[in-house]
Amino acid sequence: MSAPNGVSRVTSFPWFWAVLERSYALRNSVLGNLKFQRLASAFPLTRWVAQRRARDVFDLCAGFVYSQILFACVKLDVFEKLRAGPQSLPHFAAMLALPVEAARRLLDAAVALKLVDKLSGDRYGLGPHGAVIVGNPGIIKMVEHHAMLYADLADPVALLRGERKSTALIDYWAYARAKQPREASDDQIAQYTSLMSASQTLIAEEIIAAYPMGGHRRVLDIGGGDGTFLRAVGVRFPNLQLTLFDLPAVAARAQLQFEAQGQSHRATTIGGDFFRDPLPRGHDLISLVRIIHDHDDEPVRVLFSNVRQALSAGGRLIIAEPMSQSGTSETVGDAYFGFYLMAMGSGRPRTPAVIMAMLQTEGFVNIRQVKTRMPLQTGLIIADVR
Ligand SMILES: C[S@@+](CC[C@H](N)C(=O)[O-])C[C@H]1O[C@@H](n2cnc3c(N)ncnc32)[C@H](O)[C@@H]1O
Repeated sequence: MSAPNGVSRVTSFPWFWAVLERSYALRNSVLGNLKFQRLASAFPLTRWVAQRRARDVFDLCAGFVYSQILFACVKLDVFEKLRAGPQSLPHFAAMLALPVEAARRLLDAAVALKLVDKLSGDRYGLGPHGAVIVGNPGIIKMVEHHAMLYADLADPVALLRGERKSTALIDYWAYARAKQPREASDDQIAQYTSLMSASQTLIAEEIIAAYPMGGHRRVLDIGGGDGTFLRAVGVRFPNLQLTLFDLPAVAARAQLQFEAQGQSHRATTIGGDFFRDPLPRGHDLISLVRIIHDHDDEPVRVLFSNVRQALSAGGRLIIAEPMSQSGTSETVGDAYFGFYLMAMGSGRPRTPAVIMAMLQTEGFVNIRQVKTRMPLQTGLIIADVR
């Protein structure tokens, strides 16, 4: 058993772990005791803790309902329609093509989730969460594509037991289980490539803020999608030469984007399979942005080895993606990505320590973690080649 908070067992202090585990068991039996719960909520000094715990547990039970309220708002374009300003209920119900009482039900639920604000005169306006969402097309697209995830998770135990051979997300991410990912057609990659592009902007800003790239000359972004990340890098560091490697159909889309944005003179796109094809050489920086969590350990090992071959002495690799933070209350790694990737049929979230150990095995040196402002969006690891 691993120790609480993800601390690995220190065998030289067995008495310490024995005491800790006993107090752990005691805590759980106290928290589960109905009499204790009643006392804690009656006593003024512990009431707020009891209320918060009850609320957290209720939120766990109700999370799917909250997500469906958000989904309904996105599907009906509620946030975009409130962008111009508050609307009266009858008028807004007509805009949403809903009966007035159904609109009230949806909007009151959205008020409870801080997506919408209720204003005087039976009017509704954007709430604080709605205001964040309306300014971020990536969140809208993510919510829309979650319809597939929720369908795939309808029986999570069947997924855990490996009883589901096909899921909507396996089809959506055409490379996830493909025998020949290189052959994916434009139709098969179009949707995920546009989702990745829409959700990339904030991530690129995080990466650039945590790791300025001005000291490099040539950067190769592997699995670079339609080039949204590289274009953000290119704007910030005008002297960098940019190369993108992705599946042929994705790289073709990136090429069109570079041309449309007048950056093709400094950007090269290459189509291929990063597990099987040689990676282009001559770059002093290689990036893997939201790549390795999609793949199981052995393919990731092969990819690291290929990257290692492609970098000369003095070259550097950066890995950016949301990482598992075992022992913290961050839900994005182990909870969200853990189950998302299971539905996708490939990959797993990894802690920074696991990624760093894999890099070390493949011969990288000077491996370190760089803090980002929003680990929820991305963590960052850097490794060098000697
Ligand atoms: C999750 S997306 C990330 C895209 C981009 N890096 C970003 O963060 O927006 C994974 C990318 O890896 C590419 N990819 C997956 N398997 C690949 C393979 N075997 N060879 C080349 N590219 C691959 C996909 O086409 C996709 O563009």
